[in-house]
Amino acid sequence: MFQSSSYEAAKVRFTTHEDYEPRRIGRCLQAVVDHCPRGARVLDIGCGSGRIMLALREQKRCGCKGIDLAPGALTLARTNGLDVICGDVDQPDGEISERLSQHYDVVVLSKCLPYLKSKNLLMENLSTDLIFIYDRNHGSLHYRWQRLRGRGKRYDDAMRYRTKEGKVFSGSTLTIREARRWAKSYGYDLSVIALKYRRRFFPRFLRELLSNQVTLKLSKRSA
Ligand SMILES: C[S@@+](CC[C@H](N)C(=O)[O-])C[C@H]1O[C@@H](n2cnc3c(N)ncnc32)[C@H](O)[C@@H]1O
Repeated sequence: MFQSSSYEAAKVRFTTHEDYEPRRIGRCLQAVVDHCPRGARVLDIGCGSGRIMLALREQKRCGCKGIDLAPGALTLARTNGLDVICGDVDQPDGEISERLSQHYDVVVLSKCLPYLKSKNLLMENLSTDLIFIYDRNHGSLHYRWQRLRGRGKRYDDAMRYRTKEGKVFSGSTLTIREARRWAKSYGYDLSVIALKYRRRFFPRFLRELLSNQVTLKLSKRSA
């Protein structure tokens, strides 16, 4: 059977977990740092303990702000001097709304989008020209196989990806092709900047099939 991962259960998990550790960034997240312009103003949504902001600050001198609903993760972020606020981007109060409504050079969404009800609204309203998304690749053989065996996670309908025109995608995460369509409907061109599976001599389509994690760069199309 599919594991059900309800919206409320995910929230309880994040807000009650306390044992956060500083985690390093792997190759797929390093790609975000490499593609980020030097000195950029960055918003990290669902920043957790802030590992990406730390790398961006240290390697690219970026000015970073973060939002997360997990107090335990944010305590760790603050000990590293990061500018983070605690709150729910799905139910933004004054401070969160204000942070979300500012303009940023770059917005980062790492392993956070599947849990957000407001993902489609965010895409519509964020004021930025560049978004980096690091997440599962729903089209990989690994996740296709899991679904075939009934082992995939099924999220609440409210957490589904929807294009601006209203097409709802079936999975809780997207294939690369679906993500391209989703991003395009909100005015962004999508490129893949890192795949977990890196053997260069394999053709691209095979590496995409073998990679269960992917890093995407969404660039706003000029009007
Ligand atoms: C898997 S963790 C990833 C953390 C971080 N982005 C990273 O890559 O290390 C997902 C994060 O999203 C946050 N999150 C989930 N739903 C959220 C919401 N509605 N508002 C704000 N943060 C949320 C969780 O608290 C959690 O820290």
